Amino acid sequence: MDIQAISGNLAEIEADALLVYLIEGGQLVNNGKAVDDALKGAISEVIEGGDFTAKSGETLVIYTRGAIPAKRVIVVGLGEEDKITLEIVRRTAASGLQKARDLKLKHVAGGAVGVNSGRFETAESAQAMTEGALLGLYQYHGQKSSVTPEDVPEKFDLVTVNVDAASTGIATGKAFAVGTSLTRKLINLPPNILTPAYLAEQAEAMSKEVGLSIKILEKAQMQALKMGALLGVAQGSDYPPHFIVMEHNADKKNELDTVVLVGKGVTFDTGGYSLKTSVGMTSMKADMSGGAAVIGAMRTIAELNPNVHVVGLVPAADNMVSGNAYRPQEVLTASNGKTIEIISTDAEERLLLADALVYAQRYNPAAVVDIATLTGSMIIALGHTTTGFYSNDDAISAKLSNAGDTTNEFVWRLPMYEEYSEALKSDTADTKNSGGAAGRAGGAGVAAHFLSHFVDYNWAHIDMAGMIDNDGKNPYQPKHSAKGYGSRLLTEFVRQWVE
Ligand code: BES
Ligand code: ZN
Ligand code: ZN
Repeated sequence: MDIQAISGNLAEIEADALLVYLIEGGQLVNNGKAVDDALKGAISEVIEGGDFTAKSGETLVIYTRGAIPAKRVIVVGLGEEDKITLEIVRRTAASGLQKARDLKLKHVAGGAVGVNSGRFETAESAQAMTEGALLGLYQYHGQKSSVTPEDVPEKFDLVTVNVDAASTGIATGKAFAVGTSLTRKLINLPPNILTPAYLAEQAEAMSKEVGLSIKILEKAQMQALKMGALLGVAQGSDYPPHFIVMEHNADKKNELDTVVLVGKGVTFDTGGYSLKTSVGMTSMKADMSGGAAVIGAMRTIAELNPNVHVVGLVPAADNMVSGNAYRPQEVLTASNGKTIEIISTDAEERLLLADALVYAQRYNPAAVVDIATLTGSMIIALGHTTTGFYSNDDAISAKLSNAGDTTNEFVWRLPMYEEYSEALKSDTADTKNSGGAAGRAGGAGVAAHFLSHFVDYNWAHIDMAGMIDNDGKNPYQPKHSAKGYGSRLLTEFVRQWVE
C-alpha cells in the first residue's frame, strides 16, 4: 500500500472511505466534526443513539449518500482521551485500514491522529500511523498451495496541513514497518526452509539491496576462530552453522561510535539430548527471533542512516539430536579460551551467544546489545508483554528503556547480583552452561551471568523468550504471524545513541 501526505479539506477529498476518529465519550477529532457537519450530523446521530462507544479499535461505517465526494466514512474509536498515546495512533491506523481491507476498498484518506489537538507533532503521528497501517495489513500465506490474493487498499492519503513534516514521518514509519515485516517473515518460515544457510542468504540479499556490508562466516572460518561453543551446538545438525556479520557505515568505523547488535539464530531448538517435550518444541522454529530482530533492525537502520557504525551479528545453527550431537558432561572451549561444562544441551542459546559476544570485542564497541529467546524463566518472571534485560551499564539501560517506551516494545531491567552466579560453579570447567536444578530459580539471571563471562565492554542482554507468543489482541500484530518484536526497539536504541 502506498502512503503519501496530501493537503486539503478532509470532507472534500474523493476516496472509497475517509477515516475519522472518535474519543470514547463522544468527541470527533481531526476534522471529523467538519465531515459530520457535511453529512448533516449523520455520525453524531449514531453516537447519540448510543450505538457506537468508540472503544480503542472499534469501527463504524457510515455511507455518505452523495453529501461529500467520499463514498463512506469509517469512524475509528480512540478509547479514553487521557490514554491516547502514539501506540493508540498505531492501533487506530491498523484498525481503520483493516476495516477498509475487509470492505475491499482501494483508496482511503484520513488525518494523523492527535495533531490538530496539539497532542503530537505531525511527523511523530504520521510515523505511528504509517507503522500501524503497514504492520496491520501484513500478511503471511505460508506454503499454502492455493492462495487467493486478498484485496488490500492500494492507497492511503494522509491529509495534513504540514505535508513536509508528515512526509518525513511517513518515510520513517515505512522504514520501521519494512524492517519489522522482514523480521516477521523470517520467524514465520518453517525450519525446513529457514535453515542457517537460508537465513544467511536472506541477510545477504537484504544487505545488498539496502547497501550494508555483509560477510558470512562458514564452518571452517568458525573453526579457525576456535568458536568451540557455537560449533558444539551446531555439530548435531546436518545443516551447517552460519555466522552472519552485517555492517552499517563500515567505511566510517574509525570516526564513529560502534554499536554491536547480537541476535540468537537457533533455527530450531529440539533441546538436543536434554530433549524438550513435544509441546515444548512446538514453537521452536521461532528460536531465531532475536536474530530476525537484528536482521530487520539492520534493514531499517540502513534506510534511516543514523550516524553510528552499527554491526549486526547473528550466529545461526540448529540444536538437534544425532550420533554426532553434543552431550551433557562434555566440556567445550569458547573462542576466548573459557571452558564450559555442559549441564543441559537445551541451554544451547548462551553457547552461540558466547562466541558471538567474544567476536563483538574486535570492534572496540561503545555498546553491545544482545537479544535472544533465552529462558522459559523470563516468561514466568515478566509474561508476554514485557521483556527483561540485564546490563552492566546505566547509560545503555536508560537508552534501552527509553527506546522500549517509544516503540511500545517494553523492556525492564533486572538485577545481576553476584549471588546468581553461584549456580554456575563447575568442578571440571571455568563455568557450567546452566545451573541445573540449583539454577532453576531465577534462571534468567543465571543465564545473564553466564554471558558476562564473554563480555568485556558496556553491554545489555535482552531475554525476549516471552515475545514468541502472539495473542492477536494488538491490531497491528495480526494473530496468524509472529509479532516481529525487537526490530523497532533495536533501531530506536541506535537512533537515540546519536541524539
Ligand atoms: N529456546 C529456549 C528458551 C525458550 C523457551 C524460548 C520457551 C521461548 C519459549 C532455550 O534455548 C532453552 O531451552 N532454555 C532453557 C534453559 C535451561 C535448560 C537452563 C529453559 O529456559 O528451559
Ligand atoms: Zn534450548
Ligand atoms: Zn533455544
